[in-house]
Amino acid sequence: MIDTHCHIFKEYYSNIDEIITSSDVYMIVAGVDDKSNLEVIELVNKYDKVYGVIGIQPEEVSNMTNNSIKIIEDNIDNPKIVGIGEIGLDYHWDDSNKEKQKEVFRKMLDIASKNNKTVVIHSRDAIKDTYDILKDYKNLKVVLHCYSSSLDMAKEFIKMNVMLGIGGVVTFKNSKKLVEVVKDIPIDNLVLETDSPYLSPEPYRGTTNIPNNIKFVAQKIAQIKNISYEEVIEKTTKNAIKQFDLNI
Ligand code: NI
Repeated sequence: MIDTHCHIFKEYYSNIDEIITSSDVYMIVAGVDDKSNLEVIELVNKYDKVYGVIGIQPEEVSNMTNNSIKIIEDNIDNPKIVGIGEIGLDYHWDDSNKEKQKEVFRKMLDIASKNNKTVVIHSRDAIKDTYDILKDYKNLKVVLHCYSSSLDMAKEFIKMNVMLGIGGVVTFKNSKKLVEVVKDIPIDNLVLETDSPYLSPEPYRGTTNIPNNIKFVAQKIAQIKNISYEEVIEKTTKNAIKQFDLNI
């Protein structure tokens, strides 16, 4: 099985080697800024079961340096860098730099287009703008990481070659809206993720998340869709391999 989105960085873990080598989960580690993008490169070069995406996360656009784009472009040909991410729009804490966020988002999408890479999108309180911009990039393969918007929007997105990343939030008691999305959207459009170290699923909510906890997300999806755990693993793994062109 594949954790399609996690941040296994030194900032959060002192036992990265153990987390990775003791797990049977493949992982796609997502960079958010220069420092983490460089850590992604290190990890994918070191561990067979680790793939990576690199990009500038919307909350990090104000910390961009002259080197940020160069780091991404210099490493895009690494066969284990399977996408550009996480990128997108986040108006939750700060929407004073919307225009800058949109400009960087488009720049990242352009790099992905040019290099035929999948994109991993972070969108928070900005789903309409995210949708409008993605409409200009119809050929891209997209993963909407930690999907948190409505079922109606989800239905629009899946018309556009989009996979929805489903993580620990789906196991939370107050996740009614996301449960509805998981129930109604075909399994062919879902991939699993943990967003480690964040968003630990029940029964570990509130602790530091790790890719192994992906199993609880799969169990919950099986329960919601009334299918077997094995089917969830098999189909979502297939979806992830397809969406990221993974060589597994
Ligand atoms: Ni993330």
